Amino acid sequence: MAYTLVTGEDFGTLALKSLREAFEQARKFPLVVLPTGNTPKELYLRIRQQGLGGEEFQYLNLDQYHGIKFSDPRSYPLEIKKEVLDPLGIGLRPDFIFDAEAPPDQECCKIETAIEKDGGIDICVLGIGENGHIGFNEPYSDFKDRSRLVRLAASTRKANAKFCDPHGGVPQNALTLGLRTIFEARKIILLTNKPDITAKALHGRVWSNIPASILQRHPDVTVVATPRVAAALRLAA
Ligand code: GLP
Repeated sequence: MAYTLVTGEDFGTLALKSLREAFEQARKFPLVVLPTGNTPKELYLRIRQQGLGGEEFQYLNLDQYHGIKFSDPRSYPLEIKKEVLDPLGIGLRPDFIFDAEAPPDQECCKIETAIEKDGGIDICVLGIGENGHIGFNEPYSDFKDRSRLVRLAASTRKANAKFCDPHGGVPQNALTLGLRTIFEARKIILLTNKPDITAKALHGRVWSNIPASILQRHPDVTVVATPRVAAALRLAA
């Protein structure tokens, strides 16, 4: 597969460089997806320290636990607001955020319509779950899926318990951009510190058991990998 591998010791700086390059190639005021979790934290630190080169963009929510308020401490778009958008002075638009308290079908339709009206996703930054999920597209998600309500895998709920347990636990369900929605992004940047699953996803069989394996079919993927992940990828190639 033809992804671009970026690796080295300073993960945050490399990720920032990749994101800046993506901005240079994107249209003005691009539509940008940003993930939550531990992996992107070093990128967000570098963004706060160095900015993004003065670029304005429209933030699009990747995923959100179902049934919680935007202001809940477990809220993913709230985390992005605090870590990235507020420091850069960038506002949120409700059309591009899952309202996890509203009827799920209505919200998913709202998000898909907003993406289409805006002209599609320009840059989709992703992390990867230990079971190969991207966003909250768990194993056996269909590659044709659009945004929808999903039931979280037990392993995902376990992995996310450390963030959620002090605030009422990990919800059972979540809203997520679908695999098809993500796949249609013009540019994908995968941030990863997980050697085994990343090698499997990018060099193993392309199938719905490993949702991230869909990335093998995408024409423009940059993988920002820790040195351990890069070694695993070279071995698997
Ligand atoms: C979470 C999120 C994903 C994220 C992934 C990896 O469940 N839904 O968007 O990329 O798991 O998280 P981490 O970077 O903390 O390993």
